[in-house]
Amino acid sequence: MKPVVFSGMRPTGKLHLGHLVGALKNWVPLQDTHSCVYSIVDWHALMGEYEQSKAITSNVYEMALDWLACGLDPDKSVIFVQSDVPEHLELQMVFSCITPLGWLERNPTYKEQLREIKTRDLQTYGFLGYPVLQAADILLYRATAVPIGEDQLPHLELSREIGRRFNFIFKADFFADCNPILTETPRLLGFDGRKMSKSYQNAINLSDTPEEIRKKVMQMITDPSRIKLTDPGHPDVCQVFSYYKVFIGDKIKEVETCCTGAKIGCTECKRNLANILTEKLAPIREARAAWAAKPKNVKDILDSGAQKARALAQETMRQIRAIIF
Ligand code: TRP
Ligand code: SF4
Repeated sequence: MKPVVFSGMRPTGKLHLGHLVGALKNWVPLQDTHSCVYSIVDWHALMGEYEQSKAITSNVYEMALDWLACGLDPDKSVIFVQSDVPEHLELQMVFSCITPLGWLERNPTYKEQLREIKTRDLQTYGFLGYPVLQAADILLYRATAVPIGEDQLPHLELSREIGRRFNFIFKADFFADCNPILTETPRLLGFDGRKMSKSYQNAINLSDTPEEIRKKVMQMITDPSRIKLTDPGHPDVCQVFSYYKVFIGDKIKEVETCCTGAKIGCTECKRNLANILTEKLAPIREARAAWAAKPKNVKDILDSGAQKARALAQETMRQIRAIIF
């Protein structure tokens, strides 16, 4: 039996390059070696964005298009929407009985978000329990491998602790440890140099047109000490170069030599990058458009994914009830 992988993403809008290199590039090949369960976690989105709940529905659909376009394959993986499988909430309830408050209050991600996010009120019971639901997501499928970004490590650690505590309290050897599968690719910054994020509007989306990509690349910050074309550049401080590093692999030396040897101007260098990104994203954009033309098929995929997920989830809950009561 193949090991089970679980991962989820909050439907907060269109996917961008950060999601592609940070997550999906990892998720797609795992489909051939693992038994993969991928969920669009809309309850998690609600926890933070309950005041804009209506947007979640269209975001779920947009995310499904992006996932399918990137190569998540419903014939290989279980692809579904979290709220279609009520057992997630059932297991969350069980876990909430045994999770000490201190674990949640000490969670660094939680503390940071309370500190940083001022536009939404996150001082709620639900938001404190965000990692409890995440643990339920993973353990409901008895997953042992979780492809995630580094920022999610504290959450995964909590999932592991919650699973162990369940085993300890109910004297069962039921949940195995879940471990991260981290992506090697360095994190991409947004085209303004800040963290790439939908809320900063600084991301290149997977669905962007060539023209949109070009405009965004042109805004990237290059080596500020390079004023004239004849000034040698310092690629390591240039944002354009950091994108090259992620997207062209071997050919990176060429760009480096051209830059440090002042053989290329930044405008041309940016134009080249825009072309490379356009070319990389073309198949995704086309596949996305093809899926978008068949909304009924997308809906059917999510429905049948939910059925499969539900069958697995019900079996786990049956065993959990037998352990508890
Ligand atoms: N918290 C994750 C994020 O913000 C999303 C998520 C929810 C998740 N449940 C999960 C990720 C389970 C991995 C496994 O990116
Ligand atoms: Fe950056 Fe290219 Fe300009 Fe060098 S030439 S500073 S890599 S944009």
